[in-house]
Amino acid sequence: QRNLEEKLSVKILDRTRLIMDIFAQRARTNEGKIQVELAQLQYMLTRLVGRGRELSRLGGGIGMRGPGEKQLEVDRRKILRRIRKLKNDLEKIRQRRAQQRKRRLSEMLSFALVGYTNSGKSTLLRALTHSDVFVKDQLFSTLDALVRRVYLPDFGDVLLSDTVGFIRKIPHQLIEAFRATLEEVVHSDAIIVVVDSTWKDIEPQIEAVLSTLEEIGATGKNAIFFFNKLDLLSTVQRERVVRLARQYPLSVTGSALVEEGLDYLREKMKDVALEIVHARQREESAVEQ
Ligand code: GTP
Repeated sequence: QRNLEEKLSVKILDRTRLIMDIFAQRARTNEGKIQVELAQLQYMLTRLVGRGRELSRLGGGIGMRGPGEKQLEVDRRKILRRIRKLKNDLEKIRQRRAQQRKRRLSEMLSFALVGYTNSGKSTLLRALTHSDVFVKDQLFSTLDALVRRVYLPDFGDVLLSDTVGFIRKIPHQLIEAFRATLEEVVHSDAIIVVVDSTWKDIEPQIEAVLSTLEEIGATGKNAIFFFNKLDLLSTVQRERVVRLARQYPLSVTGSALVEEGLDYLREKMKDVALEIVHARQREESAVEQ
């Protein structure tokens, strides 16, 4: 990285650092900011360790501290202290969230929107709830879990949460740091996978989302696949997407922006909600017996 910077006279970032910088720009709430800072510090720490080794090789005789190593040790300790503090703060947020969730869950079923970054999750949340959610054509515009109520005809209200966008090979530090936000997905009753249908190859996008779900421990949930942005496709492209969607047991094609397919999506959500309620009732009566 240093050599490239010298040769090309431009700033060089690796992928992890680039993603973190975007996250840092997007973080709006306290929770988002803490999570990003934590990820950045953890990332810095691993780089610092590498540099320490490198510098210590320059060091003098046996057992001597290498030049700069003392400073690194001080920096390292400072970073570790700050990490501890941030983790503490996050733990408090996490507990508060868990309590809120418990209160909410005793009342209502919850769906979590997941999907690749920029796939249209916030737009869909807004369309389904007619609320004023931040929508922007940029990566990772949502860093904090947002929860809203959605009315499903013939069922009633359910909760719908929007969360951080997924990406292929998401840096590990970020998954760790965003665990509090991602817990909203882990604890949801069902998920809606929002798919950006304008991609040339859609399957790898879905694979990336499913493998991230696995990584955060959110598997085995009822899932509806919403193939979004159909308004941007030609007739031939639409047909291709509709064919692909049929391969998924519960799928809906449409557009969050022009509100196409949303009634059908609500209907599918209702089916899933009823299924969950019935499964719970069966479980309860089994326990009673
Ligand atoms: P992150 O928070 O970054 O993960 O993004 P997101 O998945 O929440 O996407 P968001 O709703 O912010 O939408 C991203 C961009 O796609 C915005 O410019 C939206 O207007 C656009 N978009 C979303 N859904 C549709 C759609 O159905 N059709 C069209 N044409 N554009 C859409």
